[in-house]
Amino acid sequence: ATHISAIPRNYASITPPYPTLIKNLESVRKILKRPLTLAEKILYSHLNDPINGLGNGGRIRGEAYLQLKPERVAMQDASAQMALLQFMSAGLAQCAVPTSIHCDHLIQASEGAKADLERSIVTNQEVFDFLESAARKYGIEFWRPGSGIIHQIVLENYAAPGMLMLGTDSHTPNAGGLGMLAIGVGGADAVDAMTGTPWELKAPKIVGIHLTGKLSGWATTKDLILHLAGKLTVRGGTGRILEYFGPGVHGQSCTGLATIANMGAEVGATTSTFPYTSNMQSYLHATGRGPVAQAADEAATKGFLTADEGAEYDEVIEINLSDLEPTINGPFTPDLATPLSKFGAFIKDQGWKDELSAGLIGSCTNSSYEDMTSVADLARQAKTAGLTTKVPFLCTPGSEQIRATMERDNVTATLQDVGAVVLANACGPCIGQWKREDKKGEENAILTSFNRNFKSRNDGNRYTMNFLASPTVVTAMAFSGSLSFNPMTDSLTLPSGKQFQFSPPAGEDLPLTGFTPGDTSLYPSPTPEPQPSAEVIIKKDSQRLELLEPFTSPFAEGKLEFSSLKVLMRVRGKCTTDHISAAGPWLKYKGHLTNISENLLITAVNDEGGEINVAFDHDAPGGTTETDTIPNVAKRLKSRSQPWALVVDDNYGEGSAREHAALQPRFYGCNLIIARSFARIHETNLKKQGVLPLWFADKADYSRIGSGDMIETVGLADLLEGKPDATIKLRVTSREGKMFEISTQHTMSADQIKWLRAGSALNHIRSQMQ
Ligand code: F3S
Repeated sequence: ATHISAIPRNYASITPPYPTLIKNLESVRKILKRPLTLAEKILYSHLNDPINGLGNGGRIRGEAYLQLKPERVAMQDASAQMALLQFMSAGLAQCAVPTSIHCDHLIQASEGAKADLERSIVTNQEVFDFLESAARKYGIEFWRPGSGIIHQIVLENYAAPGMLMLGTDSHTPNAGGLGMLAIGVGGADAVDAMTGTPWELKAPKIVGIHLTGKLSGWATTKDLILHLAGKLTVRGGTGRILEYFGPGVHGQSCTGLATIANMGAEVGATTSTFPYTSNMQSYLHATGRGPVAQAADEAATKGFLTADEGAEYDEVIEINLSDLEPTINGPFTPDLATPLSKFGAFIKDQGWKDELSAGLIGSCTNSSYEDMTSVADLARQAKTAGLTTKVPFLCTPGSEQIRATMERDNVTATLQDVGAVVLANACGPCIGQWKREDKKGEENAILTSFNRNFKSRNDGNRYTMNFLASPTVVTAMAFSGSLSFNPMTDSLTLPSGKQFQFSPPAGEDLPLTGFTPGDTSLYPSPTPEPQPSAEVIIKKDSQRLELLEPFTSPFAEGKLEFSSLKVLMRVRGKCTTDHISAAGPWLKYKGHLTNISENLLITAVNDEGGEINVAFDHDAPGGTTETDTIPNVAKRLKSRSQPWALVVDDNYGEGSAREHAALQPRFYGCNLIIARSFARIHETNLKKQGVLPLWFADKADYSRIGSGDMIETVGLADLLEGKPDATIKLRVTSREGKMFEISTQHTMSADQIKWLRAGSALNHIRSQMQ
């Protein structure tokens, strides 16, 4: 279908600069002199310095650190808050790359679209006002509450073959359905792109997934990724890009490919991508982006949008689509995969009740026109037979465009006829925003077409067993109400006593008469001009938002060594970003550094005593030692203007790229963290916030430093004066007055040294602007 959508477009901002990218790739080819995979082409063509960025071209994948220039940033309402606050403190007048904000995570599902949206806007008014006013000031595209889920909107409006994009959400890779690399990151990384600072990525390994054969019957692309999650497990994709290729790619719709890319996040993959196909081309036309399709067609003739013949993958996985059957994954982990034909036996073996309590379809994973029309086909069949769904059946359309097109084409009415409740175009039950009134605290089973299923994810009830499946399997099961029902082989008994069996569902890839945009007042202007005089709205006394005060540089007065850092504590064992900055109820303070800092290290173990959330204040009034919580002792040091250091164990800061885990210690006055080893992303985040990360040269020295000891650096001045080879020693004075020296190592690059000296990366950027 070639229809021009009514949505106004700014083609310049949504078309990748193909001629430049292809030229960059030519420079890279001169160094590498070997065939490249598609993912390599996209990555290397976005190098900040394509001539020198790969060094001498030795081993890259899994080893080299790439400095990249992404073309676009997308942020959702929860994570955008701290990203914007940080961006603001860089002092720029506008974003260096096109950026969008999407209000989707904060909408709670309860009664239905209209009422839910109205209520959620009131509850979150101050956050939405802040986001919208910041968008106005800096020229960011602001998608209002109700406009849809970030990843669906990105696919419909911004994604393009060969593009490199960052998004502050783990399912950002969804845009890979259009043959690009879209990577989920923390806010501090997004700020790199927004300020024009090269963004660093350890070059991922590349797994080739060779698709042959054809999907048939009830099997969908969702089943492919559910099956693959079972094979790879939740860690199998870590540090890897999944690059699909082979004849099986071409038969899938663009949105079907997006479903696969979306759930690559469930195996921990950096992102997923596909070669440019004619279905991607049709999708670009159908969503009003003909000029982007034309530019991509042209780039494809130069070989930019597919892997080179003979390109080598780090590993190749073969999947024959003809062998796939529908799969159901869960409960509680997305990699526990059971083929539909064995699911009834699996439930029985576990001794679980053969009862479904609700079916939920939609989310960013499965809310395309194809998904919704396939589901409507089943609903129509059931309605003709006189059936309605047996359990609550909830549907979240992915975007206003999908919702309006569903309504126009009678898809919504068909679903409502059999009992569906259509929720707002937002994340809703996928992110726990489901005000579920039944089954509280009770064991029960739900089926969703979503992507994640850890405990309590959907309704806050840890006894809800949440299984993942394709939208059509979820729908068929909702008519039966039983988990052992296999729609491929089983029939349902009608009130008349007759038997009814579903025919395999048939959906439409794209609407025959084109998409309709729906309520365009929810959409942003495609050419948002920054308004420097606009004020960013933060309510006085807000408990959820707070402007960030730039951190002061400890070297502002020309003293280039730390002379008296007090050791706050020695952290024992595993300490992830979740231990450093807990999630859960703290999420509402994501935009308020003072409030969220109250959770600093509250689940970390103190190696002196082995207790959780316990620290010692050795300078309490009267010269005594007092025991208190970790955040409280950190606050005591801050109130005495006493800068401090932390001693930590191996792989400190592993886990998600949460920037709060670096901001919070810095906020309380931490200048130095000495580790047995660091998780790389967190180490970089510490450097960005102006904290110096040092590694023990001898790991045994970890136990020699304890709380209350004083640390002085020797050699830091050389580093700060721009000598990355400088070695830094620590002169430690123990509480008992014993003095000794230990050696350390560091990973500071020339740029990162400038961040440290300025007090933070953002301070450095601001000083460059002046
Ligand atoms: Fe939203 Fe769930 Fe996707 S929270 S972005 S619909 S994974």
